[in-house]
Amino acid sequence: MPEADAREDKNFHAEVPQRTEGFFLKGSGSLDWGLKNRLSKIFDPVSGKTVMLAIDHGYFQGPTTGLERVDLSIVPLLPWSDTLMCTRGILRSVIPPTYTKGVVIRASGGPSILKELSNEEIAISIDEAVRLNVAAMAVQVFVGGEGETKSVHNLTRLVDMGNAAGIATLAVTAVGRELVRDAKYLGLATRICAELGATYVKTYFCDEGFEKVTAGCPIPIVIAGGKKLPEKEALEMAYRAIQQGASGVDMGRNIFQSEAPKAMIQAVRRVVHENEKPEIAHQYFLDLKNKG
Ligand code: R5P
Repeated sequence: MPEADAREDKNFHAEVPQRTEGFFLKGSGSLDWGLKNRLSKIFDPVSGKTVMLAIDHGYFQGPTTGLERVDLSIVPLLPWSDTLMCTRGILRSVIPPTYTKGVVIRASGGPSILKELSNEEIAISIDEAVRLNVAAMAVQVFVGGEGETKSVHNLTRLVDMGNAAGIATLAVTAVGRELVRDAKYLGLATRICAELGATYVKTYFCDEGFEKVTAGCPIPIVIAGGKKLPEKEALEMAYRAIQQGASGVDMGRNIFQSEAPKAMIQAVRRVVHENEKPEIAHQYFLDLKNKG
């Protein structure tokens, strides 16, 4: 036991009011400390944005091109990711536990690419999510698609579990072949996810009216990269999304299927965190690529 502290000259700085910091992230000010702390491992508190590296594709399609050997293709990219989105299988088997940034764990699954994808179940327990020290759990939500109600129920159960443990819930708005990726649909889907308690939402960028999608969603939106594009186009899409209110990107194939993934993830960071123009970011990509 320490000796009793009987000093009379304690300094309480009574003339200095205690500062109450706000929280930097859209719609997240009323969350609990643990949730805010975890969100700060996903979103950079300085820029307010995130570059999430998405490599969870294997949960329904097995060894995706570029992810055949995650140890060789992805681990070298980790220094430039703000957050890694992956399955618990890959996390445990390949990702070094010295990775201290945010992990967003794939928390829904079930059918493979060989079947109807929308019929997913919750695929992790909250104990396991806590054990893995994840920052968020990601769940697919099929608004307007087959399995809509079930996927919404998956979301709301994960929100309950996540809020109790201080873990964020990422709602991933999934579009099937029959759904159009326009602002009206994306606005509907993202708003429903927010209303039902998601901490943040991942959706697709659309060419027209994306600023209405972000404005109508009271929580942060990150955009999925989508299918592989030429690097300049992917950087343009990221730039337009950020300028129209996105809080970051959750990008997979446009990074790990790039001809120079290390250069690409660094160029994406310039666009997301520094508002760099896509032409300049693309030149940066080319310079890094040419340096090897
Ligand atoms: C898809 O459901 C996966 O969750 C991916 O994380 C997501 O599509 C983002 O990856 P990409 O940028 O390759 O579209």
